[in-house]
Amino acid sequence: TLTFRPSTAPAAVPAGGSPPPSTSPGLIALRLWVDEVVALTKPDRVHWVDGSAAEHDALMRELVAEGKLIKLNPEWRPGSYLARTHPGDVARVEARTFIASENEDDAGPTNNWVAPDEIRGTLTSLFAGSMRGRTLYVVPFSMGAVGGPLSHIGVQLTDSAYAVASIGIMTRVGTPVLREIENGAPWVRTVHSVGAPLAPGQADAAWPCNDEKYIVHFPDTLEVWSFGSGYGGNAILAKKCFALRIASVIGRDEGWLAEHMLLIRVIDPSGRAYHLAAAFPSACGKTNLAMLRPTIPGWRVETLGDDIAWIRKGADGRMWAINPEAGFFGVAPGTGESTNVTAVETLWGNTIFTNVALRPDGDVWWEGLTDEAPPHLTDWRGEPWTPDSGRPAAHPNSRFTVPAAQCPQIADDWETPEGVPLDAIIFGGRRATNVPLVLEATDWAHGVFLGSTVSSEKTAAAEGTVGELRRDPFAMLPFCGYNMADYFAHWLRVGQSLRFDHAPRIFQVNWFRKGADGRFLWPGFGENARVIDWIIRRIDGKVPAVTTPIGRMPRLSDLNLDGIDVPEADLEQLFEIDPRSWLDEADLTEEFFATFGGRIPAALTSELSALRYRLRAA
Ligand code: PEP
Ligand code: NA
Ligand code: MN
Repeated sequence: TLTFRPSTAPAAVPAGGSPPPSTSPGLIALRLWVDEVVALTKPDRVHWVDGSAAEHDALMRELVAEGKLIKLNPEWRPGSYLARTHPGDVARVEARTFIASENEDDAGPTNNWVAPDEIRGTLTSLFAGSMRGRTLYVVPFSMGAVGGPLSHIGVQLTDSAYAVASIGIMTRVGTPVLREIENGAPWVRTVHSVGAPLAPGQADAAWPCNDEKYIVHFPDTLEVWSFGSGYGGNAILAKKCFALRIASVIGRDEGWLAEHMLLIRVIDPSGRAYHLAAAFPSACGKTNLAMLRPTIPGWRVETLGDDIAWIRKGADGRMWAINPEAGFFGVAPGTGESTNVTAVETLWGNTIFTNVALRPDGDVWWEGLTDEAPPHLTDWRGEPWTPDSGRPAAHPNSRFTVPAAQCPQIADDWETPEGVPLDAIIFGGRRATNVPLVLEATDWAHGVFLGSTVSSEKTAAAEGTVGELRRDPFAMLPFCGYNMADYFAHWLRVGQSLRFDHAPRIFQVNWFRKGADGRFLWPGFGENARVIDWIIRRIDGKVPAVTTPIGRMPRLSDLNLDGIDVPEADLEQLFEIDPRSWLDEADLTEEFFATFGGRIPAALTSELSALRYRLRAA
């Protein structure tokens, strides 16, 4: 742990939510740790978050009074607020995100590694006095239903009231979680400071933060220390830091999976329900698929989660999944009636918007919400804006933070502690070339190979060539808390522990393939239900598949295309396999695997060899 100054009595005067008196070892450990962090960071006040509605209201009133939130017009957007960040604090900072494992090899080539001892020294200096003039909030949170068999608890100490409000939407917080700790549940320590101490009498900024940023994960001691940023993924430590980076390490050690996946229930016309988890890199429509409205009659989708899934083998040998979150932290631009009407309806109220534009009537707007921009807005920086301004009104990474329960198609049982049994796992990227609309893995190891090769094309590729690939295996590149080659091995091990007939089937999809003329070949959005329809008929053994060198594909006649007009030639291009281009891609995959220096599991290098063999024979 950090070397703290001698812990005298905490300097802070408790105000508001005080810790419940208890002699339980769990709560004593928590109080001692809070005392240590208080002694280091020197806040003026300590507030134990109880999660009550009264507390939330008081917090929001205070943020508005301090000019840190703008209350939106309740006539249009009840219970909703707008935050404007510092212009330099608008996104996750991957270059400032570190894995501080004892051994550098355990972080792997895809993470920024720092030596734990060295970084603890740096963090101790940064956090020393960093909360002066502020309140330290103690936020006990549960990922997953409180007390659930797949759930995990953490505590975030933070000096950002905006973070507290956001964590309150994204997770379950407060007294019920403290009770779990009191009863002996293990919990993970996370500490967050915006790094902007206030001298006595000093006026606060609307968005306090620090130019120097550190998001540091300690996988060996299961801790997170985050300094300098107030933005979502850097500050809501329960989400990417805990539920993905730290949880992936816990999952590795305990035999389960913490994944960057949406979770949906698909109900077919006969009323049968199927559960699908899907991993897509950022900007590939994950939230849209999570809230899909099928265009084919009789089909329904219920939303379970849009970003994270925790998956564990159940007593019945099947894989069971929960969405550990309680809210959606989504990108606003591009969310509109035509792309994701469900999200638009979810945002009717009780939402914290960040960096979107403000309308004169006190409501919000962002690019894509409506086809036409309003004539006058205040942009995300607080400047007057018109459609002629020549810059976006909302920041491209502007966000909404909203309770999942408000989603009109959320599954009734979305909080069920034991989760849902998975029928299929889907991997997707944004590929202009090569990757067909849908592909089925031949077995689990082939599916893991498909996951390990997920990528998006950076540049528009010419026909027959592959554009520059941005690799994002399992869509976990920025979120895996340990060496990704070991993560692939972990996936292979988990698959081996499943009975073959109990393992979810693995598929790859690509909504983004382009024709020779640069046009998207597939309409996407609600029509993606047609691909899911095929996936489900495959799971049920109702349709045969065509075996190809890269995996199993549909017979074109098996796709339900009733009511849409996809030209025959486009369909053929959507499923075209060019062996030469695929052999080039295999070379790129070999290069990618080589960055792991021999640590890639043999099963995956065999998959690559077998792929090349099949392509050459084709
Ligand atoms: C984030 O940026 O904090 C975040 C949640 O990331 P993403 O939307 O890319 O998953
Ligand atoms: Na590195
Ligand atoms: Mn995400």
